[in-house]
Amino acid sequence: MTKTINLTLKVWRQKGPHVKGKLETYHANNISTDMSFLEMIDVVNEQLTLDGKDPIAFDHDCREGICGSCGAVVNGRPHGPEKGTTLCQLHMRHFSDGDTVVVEPWRSRAFPIIRDLAVDRGVLDKIIQAGGYISVNAGGAQDANAIPIPQEVADKAMDAAACIGCGACVAACPNASAMLFVSAKVSQLALLPQGKPEAARRAIAMLCSADKAGFGNCSNERECEAECPKEISITHIARLNREFFKASFGSSVQ
Ligand code: SF4
Ligand code: FES
Repeated sequence: MTKTINLTLKVWRQKGPHVKGKLETYHANNISTDMSFLEMIDVVNEQLTLDGKDPIAFDHDCREGICGSCGAVVNGRPHGPEKGTTLCQLHMRHFSDGDTVVVEPWRSRAFPIIRDLAVDRGVLDKIIQAGGYISVNAGGAQDANAIPIPQEVADKAMDAAACIGCGACVAACPNASAMLFVSAKVSQLALLPQGKPEAARRAIAMLCSADKAGFGNCSNERECEAECPKEISITHIARLNREFFKASFGSSVQ
């Protein structure tokens, strides 16, 4: 039998980027524990709409943990309390009847609030535009098949490529650093032969773009790794630093 729970929600409401926001209290009643967190907000929004009030604005798209659109800080944890889980994949069975749940947007100077829980993460796209691609001629599919890549290297590149660009690493970091995101994007290309010719230029361009966007520096707090829904490892930050130093000094540091 489906279990239902009642929750008290304290949700950040803010009408626009330059308006003062505040936490408002709502009651989410008869919430099925089979629902996702976003479905629970849908239920609350339905009631708000029926009452003639503004629904809570939040970002979402795939609701399958693959697009990186969703995200909010739930009881102080980006994407909520479950490890390796996006907000859209967080199920209400992880909450108890009578819980009070505080829901806030990502907090970072680089992510201005658009409305309520929706923030502008466009700067992450700018970092990708700065260098997160391969522009050399990598040939066709048959050429790729002809380049032997050790399984261990391919696996590491695929692990880095799992980054969905959600920005939770920034929200988790006390410095609002985007280093885990940048390092995942640099690693996924730098590890593979097709990405190596542009690795130096890419590392410098993407880090400069992140600096310009207002993200902070990495001081090895590891909060990003703990909260990343794709469990991206901070070893990629070490690789990014190596790529950056190689590029900066033009040396043969490995
Ligand atoms: S590194 Fe993880 S937390 Fe950061 S943007 Fe990528 S998936 Fe999201
Ligand atoms: S809505 Fe796509 S990852 Fe959550």
